[in-house]
Amino acid sequence: MSDNGVTFTLRLSLDDGAPRGALFSRGEIDAVAEEVSAAAARVEAARGPGPLGFLELPYAYGEEHGATIFGDLFWGTLPRIEEAARRIRQDAATFFHLGIGGSALGAMTLVNALGPEATGEPGGAGGEIHVLDNVDPDWIGPVLCRADLTNTYANVVSKSGGTVETIATFAVLLERMRREAKLPEDVLKRRIFVTTNPEKGALLELARKEGFQVLPLPDVVHGRFSVFSPMGLFAAAVAGVDVAGLLAGARRADEVTAREPFRRNMAWKLAALHYLGLRKKGIKVLVLLPYSNRLRLLADWYSQLVAESLGKDGQGLTPVKALGVTDQHSQLQLYNDGPKDKLVVFFSVAEHREALPIPDAWAEGSDYSYLKGHSLADLLRVEREATEVSLHAHGVPSCRFGLPRIDAFNVGFLLGVLSKTVCILGELLGVDAFDQPGVEESKEYARAMLGKAGKGYEELRENVERAAGEEQEA
Ligand code: PA5
Repeated sequence: MSDNGVTFTLRLSLDDGAPRGALFSRGEIDAVAEEVSAAAARVEAARGPGPLGFLELPYAYGEEHGATIFGDLFWGTLPRIEEAARRIRQDAATFFHLGIGGSALGAMTLVNALGPEATGEPGGAGGEIHVLDNVDPDWIGPVLCRADLTNTYANVVSKSGGTVETIATFAVLLERMRREAKLPEDVLKRRIFVTTNPEKGALLELARKEGFQVLPLPDVVHGRFSVFSPMGLFAAAVAGVDVAGLLAGARRADEVTAREPFRRNMAWKLAALHYLGLRKKGIKVLVLLPYSNRLRLLADWYSQLVAESLGKDGQGLTPVKALGVTDQHSQLQLYNDGPKDKLVVFFSVAEHREALPIPDAWAEGSDYSYLKGHSLADLLRVEREATEVSLHAHGVPSCRFGLPRIDAFNVGFLLGVLSKTVCILGELLGVDAFDQPGVEESKEYARAMLGKAGKGYEELRENVERAAGEEQEA
């Protein structure tokens, strides 16, 4: 199965009649095709101003924006982002993206896959891009110390405006820009962008009061599905990513996953594998295994999508983020010989920026002479193929997205396919793929413990104290 050269391949059980491990057979997949196709049709039918509204994002910036649920909301947003990004690159400024979870992982994925460090292209960010998601002072402190805060821009992303990690880091950064870098207020207003719900919220109020620039992240777009909103696109533009290409790839993914029949539909097939695995094969763990450092954070991004969207009502798959070849030397033993409860999703890349030929550094006849004529790119490919074969022989099911190359279109396409897959899975499992009550609960506990006043917080504090009383030294 292939689109714009992106392929999706399955390794099925051998037709020798002997069931092996948790491998899927053709018949098993065919048996769920109708159910999956029906769930996918329900997803397409439910598009519109609800939680599937994010599917319209790739269309919301261009000429067709009027036909989307967003109307004019994003009209003019892309030129604003691109103009700011051009200034940032030109000034070789440091760019801070502040956000966490769904308000960070999309940006991190795009910068990791397509940014200047990944491509080696000049003309990416002039300065450095830092996505500050965690609030570890041992990390943030040195990053802020090293940065030239007199030449710094920031995009503070929180849809709710109430995420304590983001707001706290923003307070630290802003204070330093004011007091240490002594940036006047009119400069701060040009340098600080706030991406949040454009209709309501404490962050919006703050931005209005301080005169910071606001980029829209509407309520209907849920955090982990917001990669094609200004959350992901601003950092991407600063990194010199071809944003138009990215959105074109996402549109293509949306179109083909909406209309292709089951046998040619990557999102439906991937959803079928997750579903079959969960329901029939005892699969509990989803191993995401890119053979590419540039796709490493894509595994983090998809992990969040799967964990937060589907981990409900006692159901869900536990995602494991791994990296080929590295984790062959750390995890593969378990995948091959441990419990047969894993589905492995490979991501491969055919064409690299540089193949890096392995020099003929050793004498003919030495132990290493078999490396002659090969490159590191060959080695990466062969190791991946070897791992696929080995997993298959051990009865561990796997599938693979094959990218001809990592470019904006293909990354946009892949993100689009994976997003659609999770929507279909939500439908198949009968869970709301768009909420995250388990995350919200811990956010509320944290606010209560920090002393937030108001309804319900007193009771939460009592719960925490009671739980602390139950804690024991081991
Ligand atoms: O996917 C999600 O909804 C979450 O991961 C949120 O994005 C995350 O908690 C940050 O929320 P907010 O953007 O409101 O700060």
